[in-house]
Amino acid sequence: MVTGGAAGIGGGVSRVLAREGAVVILNDIDPELAAANVAAIAAEGGRAVSVIGDIREREVVQRLHDTALEVGGGRVDVLVNNVGDFRYGNGLFLRSTEEGWLDQYRVTLEHVLRCTQAFLPVMQAQGSGAIINNSTVEAIRGIPYNSVYSAMNAGVIAFTKSLAIEVGQYGVRVNCIAPDMADTLQTPAEAMLRGRDPELIRSWIPLGRFGEPDEYGRVVLFLASDLSSYVTGHVIPVDGGTMAASGWYGRYKKKGFTNLPDNP
Ligand SMILES: NC(=O)c1ccc[n+]([C@@H]2O[C@H](COP(=O)([O-])OP(=O)(O)OC[C@H]3O[C@@H](n4cnc5c(N)ncnc54)[C@H](O)[C@@H]3O)[C@@H](O)[C@H]2O)c1
Repeated sequence: MVTGGAAGIGGGVSRVLAREGAVVILNDIDPELAAANVAAIAAEGGRAVSVIGDIREREVVQRLHDTALEVGGGRVDVLVNNVGDFRYGNGLFLRSTEEGWLDQYRVTLEHVLRCTQAFLPVMQAQGSGAIINNSTVEAIRGIPYNSVYSAMNAGVIAFTKSLAIEVGQYGVRVNCIAPDMADTLQTPAEAMLRGRDPELIRSWIPLGRFGEPDEYGRVVLFLASDLSSYVTGHVIPVDGGTMAASGWYGRYKKKGFTNLPDNP
């Protein structure tokens, strides 16, 4: 199961898992994007079934659960809690509202708890399963004007670690990815560049380019598969090196790095 599995990082996760033979139950709020990704997966010889709806709704989680069990013949192997959105309630914390905090909680953390509670009993009973949550590097290093987003995503990481300890005894592993700099509908490379010199990217990201959805998908594949059979309770940043470079910036149009961005 991949929530928000039609486009962006979730789209990449769905395609990569399907390429490895998984039957993907792809939840998405957007029916057209979902149909396009189901078709893309089918064109590559894979299989995906869509469950259309807003994952923040209990009824949608229930439908995802029922569809997955039906398609999987009572078995579920991998749950990817991917939906999240930094655009809810960003801005100065002092201008944020309690309503906005709740919106951010609902889009970031509540459905992760709800989906996990829905699928965990099946995984525990079968003695295996992998849950992969999608957080952000900004839950680890901080981000101004997005403190509520950051806090809720730190909750996703804390939930990942704590649950991993609790359910390891049932053969269920729980891990997390922390993306940065993906070129997606939510954070298009074009919007980040805003017409500026693409050379700037080298000063933002050590690998010198934005991440493609499939590159996040391949890390999820690692955490979903037996390749990571002894890995649980961890967070893997998928960020082109931005976490490692925090505080150090590639010089714009020059060689080398600076920790004094005003003095390029
Ligand atoms: N893009 C980045 O660089 C980046 C960085 C850090 C963290 N993340 C996290 O990665 C995740 C995916 O980000 P993205 O950039 O791929 O997003 P995106 O907006 O490009 O894609 C999200 C997908 O989920 C679907 N979706 C949105 N809300 C939904 C809902 N309520 N119910 C069901 N489906 C829904 C959308 O239709 C879309 O297919 C998010 O949790 C985001 O916070 C992304």
